[in-house]
Amino acid sequence: MSSTTVTDGIEDRAAYALGNSADHAAVRLMALDHFLDPVTRRVIDQLPLHPGNRCLEIGPGSGSIARYLAGRVGPTGQVAAVDLDLSRITPGGDLDVYEHDIRDGLPLDGPFNLIHARLVLVHLPERYVVLRTLTDALAPGGWLVLGDFGDTPMTVYSSPSDSDTDLYTRVVYALQHVLEGHGVDMAWADATHAAMRDAGLHDVHAVEHAESWSGGSIGIRMHHANTSQTQDELLQHGITTADLDRFRELVADPGFFARSYRFVCTRGQRPLQ
Ligand SMILES: C[S@@+](CC[C@H](N)C(=O)[O-])C[C@H]1O[C@@H](n2cnc3c(N)ncnc32)[C@H](O)[C@@H]1O
Repeated sequence: MSSTTVTDGIEDRAAYALGNSADHAAVRLMALDHFLDPVTRRVIDQLPLHPGNRCLEIGPGSGSIARYLAGRVGPTGQVAAVDLDLSRITPGGDLDVYEHDIRDGLPLDGPFNLIHARLVLVHLPERYVVLRTLTDALAPGGWLVLGDFGDTPMTVYSSPSDSDTDLYTRVVYALQHVLEGHGVDMAWADATHAAMRDAGLHDVHAVEHAESWSGGSIGIRMHHANTSQTQDELLQHGITTADLDRFRELVADPGFFARSYRFVCTRGQRPLQ
């Protein structure tokens, strides 16, 4: 489902549903860093990044990967981070930040030796145009790294009761439907590989990561944050406040275990010529 509509020839863009300024955003970004940074770093660590290189991070959120890249290329290199909302990132040193919508193109000139975007293109109906923007900004031999959540069954491993399992599954899918209404496409993560090849990138390679989350663990806290931030819309999708109260008890219950989102991280290289 795409929420982009055209009215009298004017494109009405999907609004990002999980803005960084909201109270719950800090918890979501902390959970994402904890869950995903080790996977993202492993992918980046396999790439030939050197001091003096230029990197671009789209949608840095807390900036954990942008700072990691700055550590890899500094002090002679440079990292630019571009986000709609910079409220959770601290610039400085080798890290420059730009408040900007990537759907409007890049706010600075390339080329870049590495461009990374995690959990950004999955949200954007304009993802293929953005992919082209990023590919065009790569230096010859430069690398694009895209990470997104992909479709996966919502598996519950252990739960106090069958009705709790049903409730958890219902709320997580309702959250997905709300986000789809804002432009999210959970099929994109598995489409990224072909899209990178179609964009002319070479050596395209994807890795995946999923894990079990117990109630109260850091990763599963993103469910609490995301359902809180989208609560008004969830209530319009057949979820009740009693459902949300029980859902939040479950995701805080150390006896509850469920499968995480499935994260797909895909990299590809611009040919040298
Ligand atoms: C789900 S968060 C992920 C943050 C970080 N990349 C991570 O994985 O922890 C998505 C980030 O992309 C940013 N974002 C969303 N739409 C954007 C757009 N059109 N242009 C630039 N940034 C955008 C958000 O503000 C947010 O920081």
